[in-house]
Amino acid sequence: MSATESPPRPIGSAIVDPAKQSMLLAALYNAQEQRGYLTKEAIARVAKRLGLSPGQVYQTASFYTLFHEEPVGRYVIQVCDGLSCYLCGGADKVADYISAKLGIKPGETSPDGRFSLQQVQCLASCGTAPAMRVNDQLYENLTPAGIDAILERLMGEV
Ligand code: FES
Repeated sequence: MSATESPPRPIGSAIVDPAKQSMLLAALYNAQEQRGYLTKEAIARVAKRLGLSPGQVYQTASFYTLFHEEPVGRYVIQVCDGLSCYLCGGADKVADYISAKLGIKPGETSPDGRFSLQQVQCLASCGTAPAMRVNDQLYENLTPAGIDAILERLMGEV
């Protein structure tokens, strides 16, 4: 190692600089906007620009359900699988309902690339459970009629 090279960082080690951590979230959000998910190249580019290891960037990206590491549909429906939503009769019921409506299971994307369905942990809307998020929009107090209205609107969007 030359005097100008920095020492290698362990893969996945914690980021101790809060400013870098917050820049990382914004950078990942912007990188994801380009393709709809975070490619390996995007993760490497963000890591290089912020002086982090790809492992550190990946560790953060994989922690937040907002970020996707694989291609997803135009609308990513994330159904909360947390305890409050479960106790409100949501979680599996909501996921099953949407699954039946769209013909896809959690973890799948519709063949037309329009919808991806995912089950995620708490969406920080426990007081208004059951909840789900579609892309950046949170939906609360879900009912079958409410879900129908949301899906119909999304299906009608060009
Ligand atoms: S448990 Fe569903 S929003 Fe918190």
